[in-house]
Amino acid sequence: MNPLSGSDPSADLPRSAPSVYGLFGHPVHHSWSPFIHGMFAKQTGQDMIYRLFESPPARFRSEVLTFLGSEGQGANITLPHKQAATELVNELTPRAQMADAVNTIVRRDGSLIGDNTDGAGLLTDLTSNLGLKWSAPRILLLGAGGAARGAIEPLLSLKPVKLVIANRTVTKASKLAAEFQDLGWVSGCEFSGLPDRSFDLIVNATSASLRGEVPLIPIGVVDSGTTCYDMAYGVGDTAFVAWAKRLGAGRAEQGWGMLVEQAAEAFELWRGVRPDTAPVLQVLQARAARVTDSPSSD
Ligand code: ATR
Repeated sequence: MNPLSGSDPSADLPRSAPSVYGLFGHPVHHSWSPFIHGMFAKQTGQDMIYRLFESPPARFRSEVLTFLGSEGQGANITLPHKQAATELVNELTPRAQMADAVNTIVRRDGSLIGDNTDGAGLLTDLTSNLGLKWSAPRILLLGAGGAARGAIEPLLSLKPVKLVIANRTVTKASKLAAEFQDLGWVSGCEFSGLPDRSFDLIVNATSASLRGEVPLIPIGVVDSGTTCYDMAYGVGDTAFVAWAKRLGAGRAEQGWGMLVEQAAEAFELWRGVRPDTAPVLQVLQARAARVTDSPSSD
């Protein structure tokens, strides 16, 4: 309002309602996404609301469809619904198809498009935020569940000389490796079958950190040239990050950056504007250092 005019000339004009987005998961109360999207919206001047929906599996499908059929302009999907979400959209992007999981739904011209921004978030964090550069790296991916699956194609884009997928249940690792072998040199094994030789990059995509556990892998896979990356994140070091530091890994990082980058990618899909992630990541890490919580993943 102009302080000299005495009245606001726009006061009587109808105001459009803010756009509404939401995160569906079970549980979701721990999520940092409302905070992250709130900061993105403020930074880019977008009029939007971001809500949390505690949605158990039995109600997931109907609740998301009801939301997106009414006020919801788009949605994020988290555990345990990322795979179920592939079945309720009208169209899947190639990267969602490859990951067989949807973490972002965009409503466009009456149609629901399912995308997956997790892999892009991981890659941006590794290469831009952490500034990691390799030529023909040896990469070890731990885990063979949904999170690991979504990381395979982004990791293969780093042109590794080899990508080894190691999992507690070896059959799942071998199956995943076989599925992706057309895209690069990929093999699957159990933890005890890992070579006693270091890797350039180890990505932990197991859910072990969520319970404060570390996959039982031979310590020879880590040396001072190894970067260890935990896709989980939490207050203080995750169990995997602490383990990597104890073994003298060159770098040991957790997934805060991936969390913020996947959110930025979703935000851009919805709003058409790319937020600056650096200040958000900074605030988040500083806040996380002050809050007591356990490791999580979005
Ligand atoms: P997400 O969608 O988070 O990937 P998931 O599909 O249930 O969840 O997969 C969890 C992954 O973490 C699996 O690879 C699992 O190993 P199994 O396939 O053998 O079950 C792995 N995992 C969970 N807890 C683990 C632990 N304590 N040690 C090692 N691997 C673990």
